Amino acid sequence: MKADLLITNIGQLLTMEKDGPVKGKAMKDLPLIENAALAGKDGIVEWIGQKEETSKIQTEHEIDAKGNLVTPGLVEPHTHLVFWGSREQEMVLKQQGVPYLEILKQGGGILSTVQETRKASFEELLDKALFHLDRMAMHGITTIEAKSGYGLERETELKQLCVIKEAKEKHPLDIVSTFLGAHAIPPEYKDNPDDFLAEMSDMFSEIKERRLADFVDIFTETGVFTIDQSRRYLQKAKEYGFDVKIHADEIDPLGGTELAVEVGAVSGDHLAVASETGIRKLANSNTIGVILPGTTFYLGKDRYAPARKMIDEGAAIAISTDFNPGSSVTENLQLIMSIAALKLKLSPEEIWHAVTINAAHAIGRGHLDGMIAVNRKADIVIWDAPNYQYIPYHYGVNHANTVIKNGKVIYRRQGVG
Ligand code: NIG
Ligand code: FE
Repeated sequence: MKADLLITNIGQLLTMEKDGPVKGKAMKDLPLIENAALAGKDGIVEWIGQKEETSKIQTEHEIDAKGNLVTPGLVEPHTHLVFWGSREQEMVLKQQGVPYLEILKQGGGILSTVQETRKASFEELLDKALFHLDRMAMHGITTIEAKSGYGLERETELKQLCVIKEAKEKHPLDIVSTFLGAHAIPPEYKDNPDDFLAEMSDMFSEIKERRLADFVDIFTETGVFTIDQSRRYLQKAKEYGFDVKIHADEIDPLGGTELAVEVGAVSGDHLAVASETGIRKLANSNTIGVILPGTTFYLGKDRYAPARKMIDEGAAIAISTDFNPGSSVTENLQLIMSIAALKLKLSPEEIWHAVTINAAHAIGRGHLDGMIAVNRKADIVIWDAPNYQYIPYHYGVNHANTVIKNGKVIYRRQGVG
């Protein structure tokens, strides 16, 4: 067999090859092959076997995994990729105890990023998005979801969505796009949020026609959008053929988890303060809980999402960085895996489901991403780690050694000097 990719001497190969999304207790069963090797051609995995069997493979492109861990490329299911500026001055406010929603109410937070993003040019936003995408790729991510939401007006929201579209062309990572025009109430509509939502939903048909987004999302929160407003908005989005997502129960428990299930959202995101009823409904639904423990950490809160309970009751969970300039400023999903272990009390097996197969399903790409299997695309990471437990254990640094996208090496760790 002729191959243009051969990875030999794999200590542990985590294939994640199973039917998904993976719910509840099944998140503990990790499909893993020891002492493995794999080969691919034209970007597709063609063979998976034992390391002793590689003599039948002819190739000039052999990579020795040196007995280390090999996994599918990580899937990042929730980012606010496109924005301008930064908000380091908010850190002091947070230290003084000013709540996140209070900063927003005073015109800061999301709204300060909106001001900056409205002024930024398409090229500036694109360059910055590509920079962050590079950093994600270096950390082992091969597919991401990216949201708009820092325009809150037609022109800038479209500018952000077009940046995402252009980034898809220019960058090797796969990108799924989400319209989050309903991310906050802009000052122009302070007293009539319904009119603002009408303006945003008037964009649905154009966004659909121009294929600028796969999902529609809304921030359901005190001082932002109510449950009723969110329900109406998301139902309308579904009428236009969009799958929907919700920023739900992040800070105040409004019942957003229940709403996510009620409207058949592909994912309910955050769910930090989900109610008992919400947890039960989620567990009995097809909605995936996308948990963002880095945000809880970064906002300095003590109450982490009840992800442990959600899984114990039978839910499917994914985890994400929530990368954005305010509530979670990191591209490093490996760090979030550590926080998930320490604060959500997820096991390493559950965590690997949450960043591969379940994350892929949370962005409608379960048939494409999140597993290594014959006839699937070769999105693969070779790690500087002996086993899968090691990544959440050794925290805060980058363990990616080699990142392969569509069968091509897109990142290789360089030594110093
Ligand atoms: O998911 N909560 C709403 N949106 C983002 C934060 C955006 C920002 O602060 O700029 C989140 O946490
Ligand atoms: Fe978010």
